[in-house]
Amino acid sequence: MDNKQLISTELTGKIALVTGGTKGIGKAIADRLAQAGATVIITARNEPADNQIEHHFIKADLAKAEETAPVINGILKEFGTIDILVNNMGGSSSPSGGFSTLTDEHWENDLHLNLLAPVRVDRAILPTMLEKKSGVIIHISSLSGVIPLWESLGAYAVAKAALINYSKSLSKEVTPKGVRVLTVSPGMVKTDTMDGYLKSLSIEAGLSVEEITQSVMDKLGGIPMGRMANPQDIAEMVGYLVSPRASYLSGANYIIDGGSNPTV
Ligand SMILES: NC(=O)c1ccc[n+]([C@@H]2O[C@H](COP(=O)([O-])OP(=O)(O)OC[C@H]3O[C@@H](n4cnc5c(N)ncnc54)[C@H](OP(=O)(O)O)[C@@H]3O)[C@@H](O)[C@H]2O)c1
Repeated sequence: MDNKQLISTELTGKIALVTGGTKGIGKAIADRLAQAGATVIITARNEPADNQIEHHFIKADLAKAEETAPVINGILKEFGTIDILVNNMGGSSSPSGGFSTLTDEHWENDLHLNLLAPVRVDRAILPTMLEKKSGVIIHISSLSGVIPLWESLGAYAVAKAALINYSKSLSKEVTPKGVRVLTVSPGMVKTDTMDGYLKSLSIEAGLSVEEITQSVMDKLGGIPMGRMANPQDIAEMVGYLVSPRASYLSGANYIIDGGSNPTV
Protein backbone atom coordinates (compact mmCIF):
# COMPACT_ATOMS: atom_id res chain seq x y z
CA MET A 1 0.00 0.00 0.00
CA ASP A 2 1.55 3.38 -0.96
CA ASN A 3 1.33 6.55 1.17
CA LYS A 4 -1.58 7.98 -0.80
CA GLN A 5 -3.68 4.84 -0.31
CA LEU A 6 -2.76 4.77 3.38
CA ILE A 7 -3.95 8.37 3.89
CA SER A 8 -7.20 7.69 2.08
CA THR A 9 -8.13 4.82 4.38
CA GLU A 10 -6.38 5.44 7.69
CA LEU A 11 -9.41 7.07 9.37
CA THR A 12 -12.00 4.65 7.99
CA GLY A 13 -14.52 3.79 10.70
CA LYS A 14 -13.61 6.84 12.80
CA ILE A 15 -16.19 9.47 13.77
CA ALA A 16 -14.83 13.04 13.80
CA LEU A 17 -16.43 16.23 15.10
CA VAL A 18 -15.08 19.54 13.76
CA THR A 19 -16.58 22.63 15.41
CA GLY A 20 -16.89 25.56 13.01
CA GLY A 21 -16.44 23.16 10.11
CA THR A 22 -18.40 25.12 7.51
CA LYS A 23 -15.78 27.70 6.54
CA GLY A 24 -12.08 28.47 6.40
CA ILE A 25 -9.72 26.25 8.36
CA GLY A 26 -12.53 24.13 9.84
CA LYS A 27 -13.91 23.27 6.41
CA ALA A 28 -10.44 22.33 5.14
CA ILE A 29 -9.95 20.09 8.20
CA ALA A 30 -13.38 18.45 7.76
CA ASP A 31 -12.61 17.77 4.07
CA ARG A 32 -9.16 16.37 4.91
CA LEU A 33 -10.51 13.98 7.57
CA ALA A 34 -13.26 12.80 5.22
CA GLN A 35 -10.64 12.18 2.50
CA ALA A 36 -8.89 9.87 4.96
CA GLY A 37 -12.11 7.90 5.42
CA ALA A 38 -13.62 9.45 8.59
CA THR A 39 -17.32 10.15 9.04
CA VAL A 40 -17.28 13.91 9.72
CA ILE A 41 -19.77 15.94 11.75
CA ILE A 42 -19.52 19.74 11.57
CA THR A 43 -21.17 22.46 13.65
CA ALA A 44 -21.77 26.17 13.05
CA ARG A 45 -24.48 28.76 13.65
CA ASN A 46 -25.28 29.09 9.93
CA GLU A 47 -25.59 26.60 7.10
CA PRO A 48 -22.80 26.89 4.53
CA ALA A 49 -23.56 29.79 2.18
CA ASP A 50 -23.61 27.64 -0.96
CA ASN A 51 -25.90 25.09 0.75
CA GLN A 52 -23.42 22.42 -0.28
CA ILE A 53 -23.18 20.38 2.88
CA GLU A 54 -20.75 17.52 2.30
CA HIS A 55 -20.57 16.43 5.95
CA HIS A 56 -23.14 15.84 8.73
CA PHE A 57 -24.09 19.42 9.61
CA ILE A 58 -25.47 20.39 13.02
CA LYS A 59 -26.64 23.93 13.53
CA ALA A 60 -25.46 25.12 16.96
CA ASP A 61 -23.93 28.09 18.74
CA LEU A 62 -21.40 26.26 20.89
CA ALA A 63 -20.18 29.54 22.38
CA LYS A 64 -23.41 29.39 24.43
CA ALA A 65 -22.98 27.28 27.55
CA GLU A 66 -26.55 26.00 27.54
CA GLU A 67 -26.30 24.60 23.98
CA THR A 68 -23.19 22.47 24.50
CA ALA A 69 -24.44 19.48 26.50
CA PRO A 70 -27.70 18.96 24.51
CA VAL A 71 -25.88 19.26 21.16
CA ILE A 72 -23.07 16.87 22.13
CA ASN A 73 -25.49 14.40 23.74
CA GLY A 74 -27.56 14.46 20.53
CA ILE A 75 -24.45 13.71 18.44
CA LEU A 76 -23.38 10.88 20.75
CA LYS A 77 -26.88 9.40 20.62
CA GLU A 78 -26.97 9.51 16.83
CA PHE A 79 -23.40 8.43 16.04
CA GLY A 80 -22.62 6.33 19.14
CA THR A 81 -19.18 7.82 19.77
CA ILE A 82 -16.68 10.49 18.76
CA ASP A 83 -13.12 9.30 18.10
CA ILE A 84 -11.65 12.60 16.91
CA LEU A 85 -12.60 16.04 18.21
CA VAL A 86 -11.25 19.16 16.53
CA ASN A 87 -12.08 22.28 18.53
CA ASN A 88 -11.65 24.68 15.62
CA MET A 89 -14.41 27.24 16.20
CA GLY A 90 -13.01 30.58 17.33
CA GLY A 91 -12.33 34.16 16.39
CA SER A 92 -12.94 37.67 17.65
CA SER A 93 -15.16 40.63 16.93
CA SER A 94 -13.41 42.91 19.44
CA PRO A 95 -12.18 46.28 18.17
CA SER A 96 -8.51 47.08 17.68
CA GLY A 97 -6.82 49.85 19.70
CA GLY A 98 -5.35 48.20 22.79
CA PHE A 99 -6.46 47.94 26.41
CA SER A 100 -8.59 51.07 26.57
CA THR A 101 -10.92 49.98 23.77
CA LEU A 102 -11.68 46.56 25.28
CA THR A 103 -14.74 46.44 27.53
CA ASP A 104 -15.68 43.59 29.87
CA GLU A 105 -18.10 42.45 27.18
CA HIS A 106 -15.32 42.16 24.57
CA TRP A 107 -13.18 40.18 27.03
CA GLU A 108 -16.06 37.89 27.96
CA ASN A 109 -17.03 37.24 24.32
CA ASP A 110 -13.46 36.36 23.31
CA LEU A 111 -12.94 34.15 26.36
CA HIS A 112 -16.26 32.35 25.83
CA LEU A 113 -15.69 31.63 22.14
CA ASN A 114 -11.98 30.76 22.24
CA LEU A 115 -11.49 29.18 25.67
CA LEU A 116 -14.68 28.20 27.47
CA ALA A 117 -16.43 26.75 24.41
CA PRO A 118 -13.70 24.13 23.77
CA VAL A 119 -13.46 23.45 27.51
CA ARG A 120 -17.20 22.65 27.59
CA VAL A 121 -17.13 20.56 24.40
CA ASP A 122 -14.20 18.54 25.79
CA ARG A 123 -16.05 18.05 29.09
CA ALA A 124 -19.11 16.70 27.27
CA ILE A 125 -17.15 14.31 25.01
CA LEU A 126 -14.26 13.13 27.19
CA PRO A 127 -16.24 10.62 29.30
CA THR A 128 -16.94 8.48 26.20
CA MET A 129 -13.29 8.68 25.10
CA LEU A 130 -12.08 7.76 28.58
CA GLU A 131 -14.51 4.87 28.75
CA LYS A 132 -13.06 3.29 25.61
CA LYS A 133 -9.52 4.47 26.53
CA SER A 134 -8.93 6.09 23.13
CA GLY A 135 -9.50 9.32 21.27
CA VAL A 136 -7.75 12.43 19.97
CA ILE A 137 -8.56 16.03 20.83
CA ILE A 138 -7.12 18.93 18.84
CA HIS A 139 -7.37 22.54 20.00
CA ILE A 140 -6.92 25.15 17.28
CA SER A 141 -5.17 28.06 18.99
CA SER A 142 -3.16 30.80 17.28
CA LEU A 143 0.35 32.17 16.91
CA SER A 144 -1.04 35.24 18.68
CA GLY A 145 -1.28 33.03 21.78
CA VAL A 146 2.53 33.13 21.91
CA ILE A 147 3.18 36.44 20.08
CA PRO A 148 0.48 38.84 21.32
CA LEU A 149 -0.52 41.57 18.86
CA TRP A 150 -1.83 44.03 21.45
CA GLU A 151 -3.01 46.66 18.97
CA SER A 152 -5.57 44.40 17.33
CA LEU A 153 -6.03 41.09 19.10
CA GLY A 154 -5.58 41.67 22.85
CA ALA A 155 -8.39 39.64 24.42
CA TYR A 156 -8.37 37.02 21.65
CA ALA A 157 -4.61 36.45 22.10
CA VAL A 158 -5.05 36.03 25.86
CA ALA A 159 -7.85 33.49 25.32
CA LYS A 160 -5.72 31.55 22.81
CA ALA A 161 -2.73 31.58 25.21
CA ALA A 162 -5.01 30.18 27.92
CA LEU A 163 -6.22 27.53 25.46
CA ILE A 164 -2.62 26.39 24.86
CA ASN A 165 -2.05 26.12 28.61
CA TYR A 166 -5.36 24.31 29.17
CA SER A 167 -4.62 21.88 26.31
CA LYS A 168 -1.26 20.99 27.87
CA SER A 169 -2.83 20.54 31.27
CA LEU A 170 -5.59 18.30 29.87
CA SER A 171 -3.02 16.20 28.02
CA LYS A 172 -1.19 15.55 31.29
CA GLU A 173 -4.45 14.37 32.84
CA VAL A 174 -5.89 12.16 30.10
CA THR A 175 -2.93 10.90 28.02
CA PRO A 176 -2.21 8.18 30.64
CA LYS A 177 -5.85 7.14 30.15
CA GLY A 178 -5.53 6.70 26.37
CA VAL A 179 -6.65 10.09 25.01
CA ARG A 180 -4.15 12.22 23.07
CA VAL A 181 -4.54 16.01 23.34
CA LEU A 182 -2.70 18.41 21.03
CA THR A 183 -2.69 22.08 20.06
CA VAL A 184 -2.24 23.52 16.57
CA SER A 185 -1.40 27.23 16.41
CA PRO A 186 -1.63 28.78 12.95
CA GLY A 187 -0.05 32.09 12.02
CA MET A 188 -1.90 34.15 9.41
CA VAL A 189 -4.21 31.98 7.31
CA LYS A 190 -5.94 33.21 4.16
CA THR A 191 -9.62 32.71 4.95
CA ASP A 192 -12.62 34.93 4.18
CA THR A 193 -12.60 36.03 7.82
CA MET A 194 -8.92 37.01 7.60
CA ASP A 195 -9.63 38.96 4.40
CA GLY A 196 -12.50 40.79 6.17
CA TYR A 197 -10.33 41.49 9.21
CA LEU A 198 -7.51 42.95 7.10
CA LYS A 199 -10.03 45.04 5.16
CA SER A 200 -11.50 46.53 8.35
CA LEU A 201 -7.99 47.25 9.72
CA SER A 202 -7.09 48.95 6.44
CA ILE A 203 -10.15 51.21 6.66
CA GLU A 204 -9.37 52.08 10.31
CA ALA A 205 -5.72 52.87 9.47
CA GLY A 206 -6.42 54.62 6.15
CA LEU A 207 -4.05 52.22 4.37
CA SER A 208 -4.51 49.83 1.46
CA VAL A 209 -5.23 46.16 2.20
CA GLU A 210 -1.76 45.29 0.83
CA GLU A 211 -0.10 47.85 3.14
CA ILE A 212 -1.99 46.71 6.23
CA THR A 213 -1.31 43.03 5.40
CA GLN A 214 2.41 43.83 5.19
CA SER A 215 2.19 45.79 8.46
CA VAL A 216 0.54 42.85 10.30
CA MET A 217 3.11 40.45 8.82
CA ASP A 218 5.90 42.82 9.97
CA LYS A 219 4.50 42.94 13.52
CA LEU A 220 4.77 39.15 13.62
CA GLY A 221 8.45 39.65 12.75
CA GLY A 222 7.78 38.89 9.07
CA ILE A 223 6.80 35.61 7.43
CA PRO A 224 9.95 33.97 6.02
CA MET A 225 7.73 31.90 3.72
CA GLY A 226 6.56 35.19 2.21
CA ARG A 227 2.84 34.40 2.29
CA MET A 228 -0.05 33.54 4.56
CA ALA A 229 -0.90 29.86 5.03
CA ASN A 230 -3.76 28.28 3.11
CA PRO A 231 -6.43 26.50 5.20
CA GLN A 232 -5.19 23.23 3.63
CA ASP A 233 -1.73 23.77 5.18
CA ILE A 234 -3.34 23.61 8.62
CA ALA A 235 -5.66 20.73 7.65
CA GLU A 236 -2.71 18.63 6.50
CA MET A 237 -1.07 18.92 9.92
CA VAL A 238 -4.33 18.06 11.71
CA GLY A 239 -4.88 15.11 9.35
CA TYR A 240 -1.50 13.76 10.41
CA LEU A 241 -1.89 14.47 14.14
CA VAL A 242 -5.19 12.60 14.45
CA SER A 243 -3.91 9.60 12.47
CA PRO A 244 -2.37 6.41 13.88
CA ARG A 245 0.93 7.63 12.39
CA ALA A 246 1.07 10.20 15.22
CA SER A 247 0.25 7.71 17.99
CA TYR A 248 3.16 8.84 20.20
CA LEU A 249 2.26 12.55 20.03
CA SER A 250 0.44 14.27 22.86
CA GLY A 251 0.74 17.49 24.86
CA ALA A 252 2.57 19.52 22.21
CA ASN A 253 1.68 22.80 20.50
CA TYR A 254 2.40 22.75 16.75
CA ILE A 255 2.98 26.23 15.35
CA ILE A 256 2.30 26.53 11.61
CA ASP A 257 3.40 30.02 10.68
CA GLY A 258 5.72 29.90 7.65
CA GLY A 259 8.63 30.51 10.04
CA SER A 260 7.33 33.73 11.74
CA ASN A 261 7.83 32.81 15.38
CA PRO A 262 11.24 34.29 16.28
CA THR A 263 11.81 32.19 19.40
CA VAL A 264 13.45 28.75 19.61
N1 LIG B 1 -7.57 32.65 9.89
C1 LIG B 1 -6.47 32.83 10.58
O1 LIG B 1 -5.54 33.53 10.17
C2 LIG B 1 -6.28 32.15 11.92
C3 LIG B 1 -5.02 32.26 12.52
C4 LIG B 1 -4.81 31.63 13.74
C5 LIG B 1 -5.83 30.92 14.33
N2 LIG B 1 -7.04 30.84 13.73
C6 LIG B 1 -8.08 30.08 14.41
O2 LIG B 1 -8.53 29.06 13.55
C7 LIG B 1 -9.90 28.78 13.78
C8 LIG B 1 -10.70 28.92 12.50
O3 LIG B 1 -10.49 30.23 11.99
P1 LIG B 1 -11.04 30.66 10.54
O4 LIG B 1 -10.27 31.87 10.17
O5 LIG B 1 -11.07 29.49 9.65
O6 LIG B 1 -12.51 31.09 10.95
P2 LIG B 1 -13.82 31.35 10.02
O7 LIG B 1 -13.45 31.25 8.59
O8 LIG B 1 -14.39 32.61 10.56
O9 LIG B 1 -14.76 30.14 10.41
C9 LIG B 1 -15.18 30.02 11.74
C10 LIG B 1 -16.12 28.84 11.84
O10 LIG B 1 -16.61 28.76 13.17
C11 LIG B 1 -18.03 28.97 13.15
N3 LIG B 1 -18.36 29.77 14.32
C12 LIG B 1 -17.96 30.98 14.66
N4 LIG B 1 -18.52 31.38 15.81
C13 LIG B 1 -19.30 30.36 16.18
C14 LIG B 1 -20.14 30.16 17.29
N5 LIG B 1 -20.30 31.09 18.23
N6 LIG B 1 -20.81 28.99 17.39
C15 LIG B 1 -20.67 28.03 16.44
N7 LIG B 1 -19.87 28.17 15.37
C16 LIG B 1 -19.20 29.34 15.25
C17 LIG B 1 -18.32 29.67 11.85
O11 LIG B 1 -19.63 29.46 11.37
P3 LIG B 1 -20.84 30.45 11.80
O12 LIG B 1 -20.34 31.84 11.71
O13 LIG B 1 -21.92 30.11 10.85
O14 LIG B 1 -21.19 30.07 13.20
C18 LIG B 1 -17.33 28.96 10.93
O15 LIG B 1 -17.79 27.69 10.58
C19 LIG B 1 -10.33 29.75 14.89
O16 LIG B 1 -10.21 29.14 16.14
C20 LIG B 1 -9.32 30.87 14.77
O17 LIG B 1 -9.17 31.57 15.96
C21 LIG B 1 -7.30 31.44 12.53
